[in-house]
Amino acid sequence: MPLTLEHIRWAYRLFLDREPDSDETIRPHIEVCQDTKQLRYHLFNSIEYLEKNPSTFVPAVPGNGARLEVELDSSPESMLQLFAKVESTWEGWGDVDAHWSVMSQNEFKTEELEVSRDLFEKSGKADAEIIRYTLERNGLNLDECQSCIEIGCGTGRITRWLSTIFSDVFAYDISSNHLRKAEEYLKAKEVERVSLLKFNSLNDMSKLPKTDFVFSVIVLQHNPPPVIKFMIQSILECLNPGGLALFQVPTYLKDYSFKIDSYLKTPIDSVNLEMHVIPQCDVFKIAEECNCSTVEVVEDDCIGKPRGSVSNTFLLKKHL
Ligand SMILES: C[S@@+](CC[C@H](N)C(=O)[O-])C[C@H]1O[C@@H](n2cnc3c(N)ncnc32)[C@H](O)[C@@H]1O
Repeated sequence: MPLTLEHIRWAYRLFLDREPDSDETIRPHIEVCQDTKQLRYHLFNSIEYLEKNPSTFVPAVPGNGARLEVELDSSPESMLQLFAKVESTWEGWGDVDAHWSVMSQNEFKTEELEVSRDLFEKSGKADAEIIRYTLERNGLNLDECQSCIEIGCGTGRITRWLSTIFSDVFAYDISSNHLRKAEEYLKAKEVERVSLLKFNSLNDMSKLPKTDFVFSVIVLQHNPPPVIKFMIQSILECLNPGGLALFQVPTYLKDYSFKIDSYLKTPIDSVNLEMHVIPQCDVFKIAEECNCSTVEVVEDDCIGKPRGSVSNTFLLKKHL
């Protein structure tokens, strides 16, 4: 059901126990939410709703949540196969439905894009702005970061806005089909100082140029855990002293487990995007091994918060 201002007024009365301040303050909901379901999700996750309804807050992982059985260490041969599988999966998505593979809502299917393109593009700006807020919240100076590496730039949705924050942006992806879309988009928007680069191998991933900042959202989760581990190590190794990495990755999914051999025997899923996890304690271990301290870990809504799941955004800093 398409949203109207009347829906939103009633949502405020029912869920926030008040009248909206004005029509102008609630009009942005119509831009962000396509229907009543999305409005409900948006309001239920608002600070005001949670503060007024503390009993509806349920911890994502209860204290007795089980340890996840996740194989993180792989033989070099299996690593090559894992990389090849991710590459082939994403080349496939990039060919069939690149924008939907980036933001998996029906309105971003290729046939709907003419109508929804503006919304898709605007969403990237909001994601890039999180960088400013995060650094400010943690008393860090963004001006000290000149260069940025983006891992998994997709169609350039966020890359465009990273170029307004950093002097140089190096945007990597594993799919040449996504990179082609990114190139067209950035050219159309006259974006400068962005280099688009393809990961052709694990070796490419481990030889990133030195940088002040690394950014990655909704990317690591689509890689099998041994590749996630390898990528986090590569991300942290390329940081200059004092450099920062801001990346998102799921750290808990109820009943998730991962075994390399059985994963490699399973054919690529051509209908659903894969979702993988690395336990939080392993991210901390990698950070320590790579001489990084943890500045902040926040829960995010990048995987839509299914019950029993946690996705975290980590801010890590390389020791001086
Ligand atoms: C869901 S899209 C997100 C794109 C972009 N981060 C955004 O938020 O708009 C995931 C992207 O990551 C890329 N990707 C997946 N695994 C990758 C890897 N190991 N290295 C680099 N890119 C990867 C995919 O090709 C795809 O373009």
